[in-house]
Amino acid sequence: TSERSNPSGSASVLVASNRGPVSFGTADDGTLTLRRGGGGLVSGLSAIDDPDAVWVCAALSDADRRAAREAPDGRLDRAGHEVGGQAVRMLDIDPETFARAYNGIANSTLWFVHHLLWNTPTAPAFDAGFRTEWQAYTAYNTAFAEALAAEAAPGAAVLVQDYHLSLVPALLRAARPDLRIGHFSHTPWAPPEYLRLLPDDIAEAVLTGVLGADRAGFLTRRWALAFADCCERFLGAEVHREALTVTYAGRTTALGVHGLGADADFLRERAHRPDVDERLATLRAAVGDRRTVVRVDRTELSKNIVRGFLAYRHLLRTRPEWRDRVVHIAFAYPSRTDLAEYRAYTDQVRSLAAEIVAEFGTPDWQPLILHVDDDFPRSLAAYRMADVALVNPIRDGMNLVAKEVPVVSDRGCALVLSREAGAHAELGEDALSVNPYDIVATADALHAGLTMAAEERTDRTKRLAAAATALPPQQWFLDQLNALRPGG
Ligand code: F6P
Repeated sequence: TSERSNPSGSASVLVASNRGPVSFGTADDGTLTLRRGGGGLVSGLSAIDDPDAVWVCAALSDADRRAAREAPDGRLDRAGHEVGGQAVRMLDIDPETFARAYNGIANSTLWFVHHLLWNTPTAPAFDAGFRTEWQAYTAYNTAFAEALAAEAAPGAAVLVQDYHLSLVPALLRAARPDLRIGHFSHTPWAPPEYLRLLPDDIAEAVLTGVLGADRAGFLTRRWALAFADCCERFLGAEVHREALTVTYAGRTTALGVHGLGADADFLRERAHRPDVDERLATLRAAVGDRRTVVRVDRTELSKNIVRGFLAYRHLLRTRPEWRDRVVHIAFAYPSRTDLAEYRAYTDQVRSLAAEIVAEFGTPDWQPLILHVDDDFPRSLAAYRMADVALVNPIRDGMNLVAKEVPVVSDRGCALVLSREAGAHAELGEDALSVNPYDIVATADALHAGLTMAAEERTDRTKRLAAAATALPPQQWFLDQLNALRPGG
């Protein structure tokens, strides 16, 4: 029967991402505990009211792997876990393969290439170990493609997320040519001059992997065009920059631009709950009547926290009038701590913060408050009270902090924003733009933000909030789904 020749499942919409909507821990009594995640994809997916939707993700920890093993076919919903509106299939990939794929290729290679993070005299070095990691990345992508192929109903729409899964579209198309496949990059895309640092076969595999999709989505036109440039340069693909299409090996992939926005309804409600009010009171007590410069990031190399601190130090050194009149609140949450580069960066962030406190602090004034633990309600409290928000990444797919602050700000907030963040395409007009490498210019922008007239600040914040919420996560998701439909 056709079923035998083309085995298929019953899901009509599928999402695939490395990190899923839930993760597990182990309680003292040995039982599994479930934690729900947040982010654009989780909110976005809530827009589809389809009992046949399935989210395929990887088990990221031992507890996740146990949950995946204990669930029938890895289907967490079938094991009775409260995973949200849709079914979730968690893939139990062996820990070594997963670590090589996630740490070695996704986070140490592809993340670095797309964010221009290498210090080239020593890194990258593509040695034999790298080749083993690449094999693991291929196996990990194959596991996703196989799971998707098994779950998808004939003609289903599959939305594959991010650089972890760049080989999946091509692998899935080979197994299931009937599917409509989308890929979405949440990161920037490397320009050709940087992508060519990768071994030729790897660069080609990544590009042809994504081109397996009917549609490849990006957060800004700049990243979509960088992808097209790479396809033209390395594959000899035919590129139409106006129409945003790439034709290669007889197939055309449409490029889409979907600038994920902040979830205004969720944020405004969440930012006024008692746990946020409590933290706001604590922060206000620490700051007194001084001004605040706020930043909130993962402790991530691309976020440029160190240069941000250097800019703040430059401000205090060169404009002594700000001493004792401003506090820099910096939340830098742990991220990817398996990687030595991230651990070293965390140390650098901490020691520079301590140096700044030692240089300027007085018994009555702590010039910089750094917290390195994750506390979402405390971030919202800081957003609400910020006079200036500093968002200065070296390069960023979008940066949602830049979009969230104006939405929840109590009295209006000046936004100092890197021109290398995707969000700059939408917020640049009302933000104070900076070159993230330019410490003096960043210090000047902090000063301009701190001295901005109240009325101007309020007006700009209103316009920033409107731009930041233009494409809410639910619509962002539906737009991509609709664009994949025949004739879309
Ligand atoms: O920007 C890409 C991305 O996958 C984001 O969606 C997310 O904020 C971040 O990277 C998370 O990284 P990780 O899953 O490695 O913690």
